[in-house]
Amino acid sequence: MKMGALALVFLATTLLSEISLALSPDGVALLEVKTSLNDSKNFLSNWRDSDESPCLWTGISCSPKDQRVISINLPYMQLGGTISPSICKLSRLQRLALHQNSLHGYIPNEIAKCSELRALYLRSNYLQGGIPSNIGNLSLLNILDLSSNTLKGAIPSSLGRLTRLSHLNLSTNFLSGEIPDVGVLSKFGNKSFIGNLDLCGQQVEKPCRTSLGFPAVLPHAASDEASVPKHSSHYMKGLIIGAMCALSFAFIMLFGFLWIWLLSKKERAVKRYTEVKKQVHQEPRAKLITFHGDLPYTSCELVEKIESLDEEDIVGAGGFGTVYRMVMNDCGTFAVKKIDRTREGSDQVFERELEILGSIKHINLVNLRGYCRLPTAKLLIYDYLAMGSLDYFLHDYMAEDRKLNWIARLRIAIGSARGLAYLHHDCCPKIVHRDIKSSNILLDENLEPHVSDFGLAKLLVDEDAHVTTVVAGTFGYLAPEYLQSGRATEKSDVYSFGVLLLELVTGKRPTDPSFVKRGLNVVGWMNTLLRENRLEDVVDKRCRDAEVDTVEVIVEIAARCTDANPDERPSMQQVLQFLEQEVMSPCLSEFYESHSDKS
Ligand SMILES: Nc1ncnc2c1ncn2[C@@H]1O[C@H](COP(=O)(O)OP(=O)(O)OP(=O)(O)O)[C@@H](O)[C@H]1O
Ligand SMILES: *[C@@H]1O[C@H](CO)[C@@H](O)[C@H](O)[C@H]1NC(C)=O
Ligand SMILES: *[C@@H]1O[C@H](CO)[C@@H](O)[C@H](O)[C@H]1NC(C)=O
Ligand SMILES: *[C@@H]1O[C@H](CO)[C@@H](O)[C@H](O)[C@H]1NC(C)=O
Ligand SMILES: *[C@@H]1O[C@H](CO)[C@@H](O)[C@H](O)[C@H]1NC(C)=O
Ligand SMILES: [Mg+2]
Repeated sequence: MKMGALALVFLATTLLSEISLALSPDGVALLEVKTSLNDSKNFLSNWRDSDESPCLWTGISCSPKDQRVISINLPYMQLGGTISPSICKLSRLQRLALHQNSLHGYIPNEIAKCSELRALYLRSNYLQGGIPSNIGNLSLLNILDLSSNTLKGAIPSSLGRLTRLSHLNLSTNFLSGEIPDVGVLSKFGNKSFIGNLDLCGQQVEKPCRTSLGFPAVLPHAASDEASVPKHSSHYMKGLIIGAMCALSFAFIMLFGFLWIWLLSKKERAVKRYTEVKKQVHQEPRAKLITFHGDLPYTSCELVEKIESLDEEDIVGAGGFGTVYRMVMNDCGTFAVKKIDRTREGSDQVFERELEILGSIKHINLVNLRGYCRLPTAKLLIYDYLAMGSLDYFLHDYMAEDRKLNWIARLRIAIGSARGLAYLHHDCCPKIVHRDIKSSNILLDENLEPHVSDFGLAKLLVDEDAHVTTVVAGTFGYLAPEYLQSGRATEKSDVYSFGVLLLELVTGKRPTDPSFVKRGLNVVGWMNTLLRENRLEDVVDKRCRDAEVDTVEVIVEIAARCTDANPDERPSMQQVLQFLEQEVMSPCLSEFYESHSDKS
């Protein structure tokens, strides 16, 4: 009897533990995919069957709602092997990016089961055989890039059915025969087809010989063509991929160190907050509080400098006052913001809240270094960021040598997301920014972004009077529910961040006349263009290095952030994770290296 009960308990606990530890079906499918890949550099070492969910695995993103895998992003990973048909068990997959690897074998026919697929990147591999004709079943497909492989045979006419297709690249393969002039296939020009063995048709302005009466012996699309022998560029490609890998490895190491450094920094910052140094200026006419305790000046020096600021030192003005540039005798430079309005309430409450803001430190946030109260004014002292605001850089800066190219914009997006995610998720109490816009993203010499003015709106603006006091430049960034209720939340920050992403992509202010004229804001404008499949028209013409795969990701994330329903928007942490998983690539690390060389 006792034995039986024990056995039962044992059985129940093992069953329970098995249930709670079981990997989700998507995870199991991914492990099957992994077995057919040759991951010689162990990039996929955290794909383990002991996990419950694959959502934190390298290159995987899940839908926040149901934790199903929606994206596989593994470009530049030196993966060999083949693409397993098991990939199609991921029925909710929207994005498959395996470009710039060394995959061989066929594109699995089963790909058509991923019926929600919107983007397929298989560029620069050694894939062989034909293009599976049932790719034409992927009715949501928006981007298809199969360029630089060894695909042969004809282009299946079923691709013409892909009405949503806005980007097609079949270049540099061994495709041949007539390009079907049907459906959406008619609209792509020679840039989508260059470098193939023998393609003809209207799209490449090369008539097919059949029109001259020759018998048509056109190869049929099939996926079981004989394999094509590998060519000698394989070796070169290996070399290039090797170099890429070394770069990305250096990048990962750098981030590891930064991360550890940040963690220890954070701990120290917490300690420091408890011992924030208060220096009360001797004379009664001024009060000075410094934060972080590391301003190497006496109060007298600082107050004297502040009092001597005049019109020549002004660098800008915003909703709360005027900003001055203050250069100390040792050339240390600060930005001093003279506040010209304050909320009703005691100075003590104000100063206590400021201390919280002053205790926050993160590489992607602008440090608040001090506060000074004079009989005539209240002043905030910030670190000075040499390149000014993103707003200025994006819309007013004309110098040719340092334009914001696409890679620089991606870094700004990721850095700003890091700063914001820190405010929302790592600060205690958490901080809602309330005023995210491009003029509050400041850039240092390396164009690394620092978010400024966080928490200031709450400190300075009365809750009830919000709509009338909203700073004019902020208007286009505000979430609809914030405009209505006046209640700022993390989700209203996420909305503003989405608008900021669109500003980076389009190079246009959210209040640009071109959409205001059509009665739209930037969000509505983007949605209209996307409905018309005009992804290319969205991108700022100055970003010549913009690649469709990252543009698509940013626009997609922006669309989620600007969802009209705040509950549908991702958290800043999720946004950051999306950006890191999907946009990080060796190109970014190259950018880091070339920039640190220059500076
Ligand atoms: N720490 C800083 N370093 C360098 N320049 C700064 C700094 N802070 C502000 N500026 C410059 O001063 C300008 C005005 O800043 P300010 O914050 O007053 O206005 P804003 O950002 O346009 O609006 P808001 O008042 O809503 O923040 C900025 O656009 C920027 O160019
Ligand atoms: C995997 O790739 C490495 C180097 O790229 C190679 O040496 C090894 O033989 C490959 N393994 C398999 C099983 O193909
Ligand atoms: C998918 O495509 C193939 C070939 O084009 C076709 O035979 C099949 O019916 C399609 N399946 C679905 C579900 O549409
Ligand atoms: C591709 O088309 C453009 C314009 O249609 C033309 O100028 C160009 O010469 C073409 N290129 C090739 C390689 O045919
Ligand atoms: C397709 O890819 C090739 C090389 O991979 C590139 O030169 C070409 O510009 C691309 N075409 C389009 C339409 O992007
Ligand atoms: Mg500002």
